[in-house]
Amino acid sequence: MPFVVARVDERELDLPSGPVQERPVSYAAYFFPFTVLPSTMWLYLAVILGLYFLRRWYRERQTVEKLTEKYVFITGCDSGFGNQLAKQLDAKGLKVLAACFTQKGAKELERLTSDRLKTTILDISNTESVVAATEWVKGIVGSKGLWGLVNNAGTGTHVAPNEWLTKDDFAKVINVNLLGLIDVTLHMLPLVRASRGRIVNMSSIGGRLIMLGGGYCLSKFGVEAFSDCIRRELQPFGVHVGIIEPGSFITSIAVTSEEGLRSVWEKVPSDIKECYGQQYLEGYCQIFKDIIKGSNRNLHPVTDCMEHALISRYPRTRYGAGWDAKLYHIPLSYMPTFVADYMVALTIPKPAQAV
Ligand SMILES: NC(=O)c1ccc[n+]([C@@H]2O[C@H](COP(=O)([O-])OP(=O)(O)OC[C@H]3O[C@@H](n4cnc5c(N)ncnc54)[C@H](OP(=O)(O)O)[C@@H]3O)[C@@H](O)[C@H]2O)c1
Repeated sequence: MPFVVARVDERELDLPSGPVQERPVSYAAYFFPFTVLPSTMWLYLAVILGLYFLRRWYRERQTVEKLTEKYVFITGCDSGFGNQLAKQLDAKGLKVLAACFTQKGAKELERLTSDRLKTTILDISNTESVVAATEWVKGIVGSKGLWGLVNNAGTGTHVAPNEWLTKDDFAKVINVNLLGLIDVTLHMLPLVRASRGRIVNMSSIGGRLIMLGGGYCLSKFGVEAFSDCIRRELQPFGVHVGIIEPGSFITSIAVTSEEGLRSVWEKVPSDIKECYGQQYLEGYCQIFKDIIKGSNRNLHPVTDCMEHALISRYPRTRYGAGWDAKLYHIPLSYMPTFVADYMVALTIPKPAQAV
């Protein structure tokens, strides 16, 4: 069918004659400049963001006063983040009370630090040991109280597919990473409250997004929940609770993961082994190898966050440490579940009897 072009007589349109009049700009334009001035929108945005980051940078540089008079108690100082934080704070002049899991770790730390730093032995999964450590801290800090409690100690055993594990495997890691942390916090709380101090709890990206099986991520989800809850309860007393969420860093926890997985596989019943197959085990081990390959060797991004949570006048509530945490895991944790499921499934091997 041919197009019919209607001819419109301009006189029929009733257009105003004479010079063209400019339409008055709506006042809304002054209040919502982004709607009419898209080219300047980015400028406004850049200025606002710039001011926001400038203010944040300025605020976050300010530290609390009298640092050299403050006591900080740190758990798990034999190695890794705890060990480095103890040395870092000692070098800054703070009075570090370092709890080590072993006598050897304590001796080595004392050798490398000043006379200010004192050590004790603590197994956070044992309440008697926690009570003894609390008495030791009380005896040192007296009525001044404890400025900082850093719940850093933790274990990684065992990270493995859930079906390969027993209730005991879950209990072991939860007993240390979550119940141990809670026990230490409850015992030390009166001392921290006395100085209106800080609690810094070590979580993980595994506390934001479950990537692999076992009790580790469950324990870290628990740490997040406990920290959020206790922060709200302690805020009226002037106590701040900060949460550290590191990505992957090379420490003894990361290094022992593959060993642990292979020892778990040895005990898996043969019918379950058949469901998954040897290839699955090797694929899972490969995940650990890839994690180690991509892990950060420099622990400072984490210990700097811990330090900031302890000494900044304006500490943050959550600290994502490491680019993998900031750019991948934490953003993914905010996505809808189906997106996270899809992304995580890409990294997990297929079982031998997958349908
Ligand atoms: N490395 C990472 O990529 C990463 C990422 C996210 C979160 N984290 C968390 O960071 C914290 C520190 O771990 P890390 O990476 O520094 O590994 P690490 O070097 O193994 O440090 C863990 C420390 O906790 C001690 N510990 C273990 N069980 C304990 C217990 N029952 N009581 C008291 N102390 C105990 C360990 O002592 P021994 O050395 O004598 O066993 C060690 O000193 C952990 O909570 C971990 O979950 C680590």
